[in-house]
Amino acid sequence: MTSAIVDDISRSFHTKFGKESILVKAPGRVNLIGEHTDYNEGFVLPAAIDKAIFLAIKPSATTLNHWVSLDMEQSFEASIDAIERSKLQWPNYLQGVLVELGNLGMAVPPTNIVFGGDIPIGSGMSSSAALTTGFAFALNQLFGLGLSRIDIAKLGQRAENNFVGIKCGIMDQFASVLGCEKTLLHLDCRDITYTYVPFNRNDVRIVLCDTQIKHNLAESEYNLRRSQCERGVEILKYYFPDVSSLRDVNPEMMQSHEQKMDDVVFRRCTYVIAENQRVAKACNSLTTDDFVAFGQAMNDSHQGLRDDYEVSCPELDVLQSVAEKTEGVFGSRMMGGGFGGCTINLVTEASLENFQQTLGKVFRQKLAKEPIIHICQLKGGTEILE
Ligand code: GLA
Repeated sequence: MTSAIVDDISRSFHTKFGKESILVKAPGRVNLIGEHTDYNEGFVLPAAIDKAIFLAIKPSATTLNHWVSLDMEQSFEASIDAIERSKLQWPNYLQGVLVELGNLGMAVPPTNIVFGGDIPIGSGMSSSAALTTGFAFALNQLFGLGLSRIDIAKLGQRAENNFVGIKCGIMDQFASVLGCEKTLLHLDCRDITYTYVPFNRNDVRIVLCDTQIKHNLAESEYNLRRSQCERGVEILKYYFPDVSSLRDVNPEMMQSHEQKMDDVVFRRCTYVIAENQRVAKACNSLTTDDFVAFGQAMNDSHQGLRDDYEVSCPELDVLQSVAEKTEGVFGSRMMGGGFGGCTINLVTEASLENFQQTLGKVFRQKLAKEPIIHICQLKGGTEILE
């Protein structure tokens, strides 16, 4: 599959622009636990997967950027000096990178690009973060910019925050750029320190069920959640001056100030604080191979996302509620920003077939959809292929 995609991209690049200088692979990601915690300076546990965006690139012979999305059959051409928001959306991720490089005093010459891949768009596997950081990674290599992988992840986040207008956290970019085979990343989103947590059990699989409901983070709900959390911090800060993010708040502080904030803000903050605690607990369970406890933390996470953070949707809830009761499933939860996309499930290898059959029925009978189920492998982060 992968090599067929790479061949297609290379071929198309050759036809349009000649031989590419480099080809970059930028993976999508899963997140085992720690949802909506990254922009609250909390903890996350993502990993890079075996679905990726591939991007062929070389410096342009003209003064124009000429970029082609193979999958969308769209192309974009614009002068490097006239960066404007595009209606096509995807060029904005790339343009955001150029703007952020410019802010660092690293303006780069125009480029020719052809890209495509197999990360389903809008499924919550972070195709946009892969595209953004993959492009930054490619420019870094092509023009010797001297950026570290962490610099690239942060730059990708700024490109999305500032140019695209999504106030996302750092998790997706970080996982895509710094992922490692058979490994989860335990990331502290406050100081961007991280540890690699081995996840190499052959008898436990990470399985995604795709609702096929396209979430759109740019829509206001994501940014709204962020501002509700900020509102909670603002209020708590008045009583606890040392609090600078929800990371600094414990459940007791929250409980004793319930009356000081409106119910929605209270529930948003309560969720985030509990989720950070779940990440810690889940990581501990991994060290003792206690997948039952890990899975329970996933189920609890879903409940919080559904009831307190309110970022789930009926389709995610249906898939999750059946999955958590299915034999051989340790845990199940919605993954990513929410309002669509996938559930992530931890399933024993021995129960995989039964899982696919059971969930397949749910897709057909309750969602009136053909099932889309991905069994993921954890792979390395962004890399140059040639
Ligand atoms: C999206 C964002 C991430 C993170 C998740 C929710 O994927 O891009 O930064 O906030 O939602 O955990």
